[in-house]
Amino acid sequence: MKTVKKAIIPAAGLGTRFLPVTKAMPKEMLPIVDKPTIQYIVEEAIESGIEDIIIVTGKGKRAIEDHFDHNVELEETLMKKEKYDLLEKVNYASNVDLHFIRQKEPQGLGHAVWCARKFIGDEPFAVLLGDDIVKAETPGLRQLIEQYEETESSVVGVQQVPKEETHRYGIVDPSTMEGRRYQVKDFVEKPKPGTAPSNLAIMGRYVFTPEIFHYLEKHQIGAGGEIQLTDAIQQLNDLQKVYAYDFEGKRYDVGEKLGFIRTNLEFALQNEEIGEQVAELVNQLAAEQKVRS
Ligand code: G1P
Repeated sequence: MKTVKKAIIPAAGLGTRFLPVTKAMPKEMLPIVDKPTIQYIVEEAIESGIEDIIIVTGKGKRAIEDHFDHNVELEETLMKKEKYDLLEKVNYASNVDLHFIRQKEPQGLGHAVWCARKFIGDEPFAVLLGDDIVKAETPGLRQLIEQYEETESSVVGVQQVPKEETHRYGIVDPSTMEGRRYQVKDFVEKPKPGTAPSNLAIMGRYVFTPEIFHYLEKHQIGAGGEIQLTDAIQQLNDLQKVYAYDFEGKRYDVGEKLGFIRTNLEFALQNEEIGEQVAELVNQLAAEQKVRS
């Protein structure tokens, strides 16, 4: 069995949900406390055993490449000032070996993954989306890789969401269940409100066999007029089993404003350096707000 050593991180989206801040800054560079969201995703991939990561970028995404590159001037300055803790933080990002490819036009998630096909070749691979950060004892992607190793099949990470939110996700229609793993009848991208076959939502972590590219190749247009990854998964499921795995861990939605603010607050509260002060600040702000209303 071939092992999963390569991962694709699609980062070509326009970030319209965060305009105007994403006009000149990639949404993947928005910070959660002091690290850009994409660094959490890269760290999860590495902790899951991934050795090669390709980031699919697009127009206006240079800052991502710069973040994972050396900044010699900055490193020298930190060295001179003996700020070794900061130097270590800065170096973590620059020591990760990443590859980049550009999606020339935004045509959807399925198309972005397809853009990396030559880098993947004939191997199983992972996909991690940047809108979800996962905090778990065993990294989210690692849990899926373990399922792949057991089943030698593609596996999609899912978690339950409230019914009224199903229209924002890819949703699976499960048949049988074994522990946390489901066999799946159908994968549906963003079902209309009230029509979702379950509340198990795809959470931006996937392991695929390379056969997925047969279906991405078709460039079939799906929900929202885009080439959808979920549609290719649905077709792959007719050829080979694609499992859904309800992974353990807390998932943070950083792809929309409220989720992003909440994640920042929660991570700030857990932060060793500023956590206590942030807790005081939150209480103080809530009290002030109460007096005002
Ligand atoms: C994408 C996928 C969707 C998945 C979601 C998870 O949608 O197409 O299946 O549930 O990510 O965050 P997007 O949020 O990019 O529209």
